[in-house]
Amino acid sequence: MKFGHFDDEAKEYVITTPKTPLPWINYLGTKEFFSLISNTCGGYSFFKDAKLLRLTRYRYNNVPMDNNGKYYYINDGKDVWNPGWQPSRTPLDFYECRHGIGYSRFTGKKNGLSAEVLAFVPTDDACEINKVTIKNESDTVKEFKLFSYVEWCFWNADDDMKNFQRLLSCGEVEIKGSAIYHKTEYRERRNHFGFFSCNCEINGFDTIRDDFLGLYNDNDRPDVVVNGKALNTVASGWLPIASHEIDITLQPGESKSIVFILGYVENPDDDKWESYGVINKKRAEEMQERYNTDEKVEEAFSALKAYWDNLLSIYRTTTGDDKVNRMVNIWNQYQCMVTFNMSRSASYYESGIGRGMGFRDSCQDILGFVHLIPDRARERIIDIASTQFEDGRAYHQYQPLTKKGNSDIGSGFNDDPLWLIAAVSAYVRETGDLSILDVQTPFDNDESKSTPLMDHLKRSFNFTATHKGPHGLPLIGRADWNDCLNLNCFSEHPGESFQTFGPSEGPVAESIFIAGMFVKYGNEYADICELRGDKAEADRARKEVKLVYDATLDAGWDGKWFVRAYDAFSHKVGSEECEEGKIFIEPQGFCVMAGIGVPEGNAKTALDSVKEKLDTRYGIMILQPAYTKYHLELGEISSYPPGYKENAGIFCHNNPWVSIAETVLGRGDRAFEIYKKTCPAYIENISEIHRTEPYVYSQMVAGRDAKFHGEAKNSWLTGTAAWTFVNISQYILGVYPTLKGLSVDPCVPKDFGNFKIDRKFRDAVYHINVEHTSGSEKGVKKLIVDGKEVKGTVVPFEEGKTEYNVTVVM
Ligand code: BGC
Repeated sequence: MKFGHFDDEAKEYVITTPKTPLPWINYLGTKEFFSLISNTCGGYSFFKDAKLLRLTRYRYNNVPMDNNGKYYYINDGKDVWNPGWQPSRTPLDFYECRHGIGYSRFTGKKNGLSAEVLAFVPTDDACEINKVTIKNESDTVKEFKLFSYVEWCFWNADDDMKNFQRLLSCGEVEIKGSAIYHKTEYRERRNHFGFFSCNCEINGFDTIRDDFLGLYNDNDRPDVVVNGKALNTVASGWLPIASHEIDITLQPGESKSIVFILGYVENPDDDKWESYGVINKKRAEEMQERYNTDEKVEEAFSALKAYWDNLLSIYRTTTGDDKVNRMVNIWNQYQCMVTFNMSRSASYYESGIGRGMGFRDSCQDILGFVHLIPDRARERIIDIASTQFEDGRAYHQYQPLTKKGNSDIGSGFNDDPLWLIAAVSAYVRETGDLSILDVQTPFDNDESKSTPLMDHLKRSFNFTATHKGPHGLPLIGRADWNDCLNLNCFSEHPGESFQTFGPSEGPVAESIFIAGMFVKYGNEYADICELRGDKAEADRARKEVKLVYDATLDAGWDGKWFVRAYDAFSHKVGSEECEEGKIFIEPQGFCVMAGIGVPEGNAKTALDSVKEKLDTRYGIMILQPAYTKYHLELGEISSYPPGYKENAGIFCHNNPWVSIAETVLGRGDRAFEIYKKTCPAYIENISEIHRTEPYVYSQMVAGRDAKFHGEAKNSWLTGTAAWTFVNISQYILGVYPTLKGLSVDPCVPKDFGNFKIDRKFRDAVYHINVEHTSGSEKGVKKLIVDGKEVKGTVVPFEEGKTEYNVTVVM
């Protein structure tokens, strides 16, 4: 069942009923000011940090589910209703929500009135604009009242939910003209305030929540809206809000639009006040001025569209499959940018007050968006590397505002250092910018301990090379990519964090997943060394890689698949000899991606086992059989009910690893089959089962053992976005940036047909035509660059050339 449809021309998903199986959200904002917005106008806004600088209040874990947002109520004399349906939930005559790229547009119709809300964050301002347009579609004069409503958050979203004894006495507002200012804590230590304004005269306002709603009311039918008269309340303490009353009369066919702005403003410390106790509103008024007409809003909206059109023009494909086109050209890349901006902080499943930026998460996010904004990838890489320790270890997380490593969680996740190599390699391959390797980069944010970034990579590499266990395989530490495989933890009491309890390091537990990473990224490290002329270091690295390659095929091979790990007693995890958890997905995908066992035949056997043991119609499960009891020696993984999360869920993140691995073997049919199983556009028509947004990936789909097999959770902020984009763009469609230039080596289904790719790469545009011979899955028969046949798969790079016409025959 579908609850809407794609509009590819407009790059929108059109939701046609407010009652989606879960709230289906979108993100507004490109740099510093962000909003989450659901298909019924729920959500919230923040500046830079969803925990520390939250402007409006949202209620997670509430009833009804999607509670609080930026709401517009219409009282037309007959009904009270909202164009986005919530929170009144008055049935509408027509409802539509169009989630676009960086904006959302809602249309609600009722009793002859049509109301449209266009919501977006301009590219260069710290505000959200809501343009509300109301049209009288009837043949009689309409007189009605419009009420706006936002509820302020006391900035620190964590405190906001807890510290009532203090905060309920702190709320302060100011009202000037049609703008309502939220200035809680501005008097003392804050230099910032929020405002909610509109560009027309108002008939009244409210800032005291409980007077506006009525103390024992929900926000579905606020007293003020129902009574049709604002009370002009001025908050002092308690819970401040901002609401405008605007009385409107429309002739038949007439329409009126009003621009509302939710803004965030910072003032310099010595320029905070206009007069005693009155905030300096100069910057706020300038911002209001920038969007005070429909034309100015239209201009800002066009600039936003141009911003995205430019980004989405960098990699574009035309294949015979609409769904591939729409995911590659629009939604997958869009999700990559959103995950880059948000990391894992704020979604409808991440409360914005939890973890900071993940070291490994952020490194992987770079793989998916580096081609879009390489400058920001560069900046992010230096931020991340600056949190690394001198011995190569890494903080598992860091805080976005301070950019400092987070000592609450600390270090000990032994895959982390290698992800830094992955990110830097992707950046250098994409841009050819070797200067990043010379950037003096601190350890643990201590400038006095800076070394060139290249030296950070060396220490990452050496960390793994020098932390190996009894089988010559890398030690796992607290965990590797799978945060829930805690082999040194042994936690017996609730409340202990699996990620921080117990020793951070054990001398025995080893990870075959990290072994796969070491081979893959160790080789990429060696390639970079070689390119820089350091042959000796490249040779040394390759020797170390070979040791781990051999150890993996030796102790890391179980007979039909790669073992997952060795636990603290040196017992195998993910082996035929285990009672539960006999086979895991991660080492199969990663080891084959790294090329381990490809010539020896193990790779093929491993992937065949994945198909046989882990595959389902909704994707590949992370392990089988699911753990049915708690295993002290394995940790969190066995704490989940079978079929959910890391205990045999379909973790979408590592499905592309297996798909990529299939392309390494040249099996295009299977690679594409795997791609389709978790790809949102292909499962749109089972939205009643899948439930999350049909335009973005979710972290997890419930596995075969779960009651709700096929149901997804944790949409939006997942490494799945980056990895699926890497998979489809670089491996299946096959346009892969190498250090020496762009390689084109597709691996597609036998009946895929011809396709095209337009790709900006470094300073040039590549127009690539792939002529696909039916029946072939992989293999470049001919590579023709500007009429000349070239050997291999890499388009030779020519200095100064800005356009390449490439034909690939496969
Ligand atoms: C985390 C990743 C982790 C994955 C598997 C995700 O929620 O963000 O860091 O690798 O789960 O445990």
